[in-house]
Amino acid sequence: MAYNEQYGRYVGMVEETLQALLPEGGAVGPKDGEIPEHLRASMRYSLLAGGKRVRPVLLLAACEMLDGNLEEARVPAAALEMIHTYSLIHDDLPGMDDDDYRRGRPTNHRVYGVGHAILAGDGLLNYAYECLLQNALSYPLNLEGHVKAAAAMAGCAGVRGMIAGQSLDLLSEHMEPDADRLAYIHKHKTADLMTAPLLAAGHIAGADGEKMKALARFGACVGLAFQIDDDLLDLEGDAKLLGKQTGMDAKRGKMTWPSLVGAEAAREKAHALWRQAEEALACFGEKAWFLHAFAVALATREK
Ligand code: IPE
Ligand code: IPE
Ligand code: MG
Ligand code: MG
Ligand code: MG
Repeated sequence: MAYNEQYGRYVGMVEETLQALLPEGGAVGPKDGEIPEHLRASMRYSLLAGGKRVRPVLLLAACEMLDGNLEEARVPAAALEMIHTYSLIHDDLPGMDDDDYRRGRPTNHRVYGVGHAILAGDGLLNYAYECLLQNALSYPLNLEGHVKAAAAMAGCAGVRGMIAGQSLDLLSEHMEPDADRLAYIHKHKTADLMTAPLLAAGHIAGADGEKMKALARFGACVGLAFQIDDDLLDLEGDAKLLGKQTGMDAKRGKMTWPSLVGAEAAREKAHALWRQAEEALACFGEKAWFLHAFAVALATREK
C-alpha cells in the first residue's frame, strides 16, 4: 500500500473513533449523565477541526508494525489526540501564547471565551483518561499492556513531560537563548507527546526492551525535529497553509532554534535529527517502511 493511502487509512480510523467517543449532542437542557451541550460543542470545535493527526497515526502505525491488534489501539490513539488538542487550546490562551487562529479557524477562547476554553481543555484531558481506562477494562487479556500504555501517556503528557516543557517555555520568554534550556523545552513540550504514542503502541503490542528503546529514540528524534520545523515555519511558513498565524514567536520573545543559531543552522539541526530518527528504525527492518516514509514526509512538510 502506498504511503498516502496508508496515512489516510489511519486518519480515517482516528476520525471515526473521535466521532464515536464524542458524538454531536442535541440535548436541549443539561441532563444528568450527559456532557452539557455548550461544553461538548467547545470540545468538539477544536478536536474535530482537522489537524494532521500525527500522534495518533504514529500510535496506530507503530502498533501495526509490531503486529499488535489495531482495534485495541483505536481508543488510545484517539485519547492521545484529545490530550494533544487540550494542550493546543491551553497553549493559545491569552495567558500563554495568546493566539487567534488554530487549525484554520479562530482559537477556542475567541469563540467560546477564556472560561470555556479552559474547561474544553480540562474536559478533553479528563475524558481522554476516562476513555483510556474504560478501553483497558474491555481488554482483560491485555490489561497490563493497556495500563502500561496509559501510564506512559500520562507520564509524557504530565508535570515531568509536556506540562514541564510548557512551563519552561513560558518562563523563558524574552530570555537570552540558551542551548541547554532550549533543548529541555523542546524535549518536553513537544518530543514527549511524540514519544508517547510509540511507547503506548509498544506496551499494547508487547514489544521487548530493545524495541521499546528504539521506539523511544525514534519518537524523541521525530519530536525534536518536528518542533524545530515548527519554529522555522513560524518564521518562514504560509499562515494559510499552517492554519495558524506566523511571526508570533518573535513577537512574544520565544526561545527557538532560529533565535539561538539562525534559520540555516536550525534547518541543518532538523535534518540531522530526521536522519537519526530513520536510523533508530534499523531493528524493525522492512516492517518500518511506513515510519520511514512518515519521517521523510514530515521533514519536508509545509503545514
Ligand atoms: C502543533 O502541533 C504544536 C506543536 C507541538 C508544534 P501540530 O503541528 O501537530 O498541530 P495539528 O495537530 O496538526 O493542528
Ligand atoms: C506548543 O509549541 C507545544 C504544545 C505543547 C502545545 P508552540 O507554541 O510552538 O505550538 P504552536 O506554534 O502554537 O502550534
Ligand atoms: Mg507555546
Ligand atoms: Mg503556541
Ligand atoms: Mg510554534
